[in-house]
Amino acid sequence: MPVITIANQKGGVGKTTTAVNLAAGLAIRLRHKTSEIQRVLLIDMDPQAHALMAIAYGQHEAPDSRSLAALLTKLPTPSIQPMIRVAAYHSNLHYVASNTKALAEAASRLPALMAKDERLARALEPVKEDYTFVIIDTPPNPGDLLTNALLAATHVLIPVETSYLGVTGLKGLHETIENVKVAYHRTELQILGYLPTLFEEQRSEASEIVEKLGERFGELALPPIHKAAELAYAHSAHLDIFTFRPPRARGDGVLRSSSRATQEYAMLVEEVFRRTMNTAIDSRSQ
Ligand SMILES: Nc1ncnc2c1ncn2[C@@H]1O[C@H](COP(=O)(O)OP(=O)(O)OP(=O)(O)O)[C@@H](O)[C@H]1O
Ligand SMILES: [Mg+2]
Repeated sequence: MPVITIANQKGGVGKTTTAVNLAAGLAIRLRHKTSEIQRVLLIDMDPQAHALMAIAYGQHEAPDSRSLAALLTKLPTPSIQPMIRVAAYHSNLHYVASNTKALAEAASRLPALMAKDERLARALEPVKEDYTFVIIDTPPNPGDLLTNALLAATHVLIPVETSYLGVTGLKGLHETIENVKVAYHRTELQILGYLPTLFEEQRSEASEIVEKLGERFGELALPPIHKAAELAYAHSAHLDIFTFRPPRARGDGVLRSSSRATQEYAMLVEEVFRRTMNTAIDSRSQ
């Protein structure tokens, strides 16, 4: 099962927007496409819990002992099942309940704890087979929460803001990923792609950056997500873009929409399927 961590140590580059819309898009796609129930699990490693606010606003907080913070700090690791809840608008999108204060405290306590980097990976073990995809959103800084998210992952998806400063942040992230691979023998951890975000094609700087990403990373460079007011509106309405601007599903199951933002995230969903499933979901279900 692919576990996709969305990471970039730079803030405000579209990590949360991508985590939410990818998770929701995958859940919709799985619902349309298969007769058996297939689920997506979203984990929000950012204490601010903005990703959870978009899929379960007002319901995502739990007492600290029944939240993600307990999974990361308690030994033996508590069972994850009682902490899993269902998203507001997608019955096959689940999430782990959070507690903002407890998760922020957990981040400062983790350095002194044993097996501090592997706690999320261990906590996920019992439910791995229950989910077709796990998506993990991360905070915008290096540290134990990010390391836990990378160690639990099979793939890393990197949103890159299409500005000069957006690209400069990549060096630090590459070093963090390499360190995790070397320190924990995780050679199988793969970069799934670089996703240009907040793209404004009328700005020559932005187009140059998309071009450079293509030259540098080849087919790991994904098609860009344009800057779109709808994405910001959806975010502030605590909705994913597929709920805010619903797509029409055609017979082939591919999500289509008159909204460019919905369309672009739907294309990302297709590309993630293609890159993570050797045989497309189509052939498994038909
Ligand atoms: N393609 C886009 N078009 C317009 N607005 C966007 C787009 N992507 C993200 N935003 C907006 O930009 C802001 C930052 O996005 P987001 O929260 O996804 O970034 P982040 O990398 O998760 O930030 P942080 O590092 O603080 O967690 C949000 O207000 C969001 O609504
Ligand atoms: Mg975020």
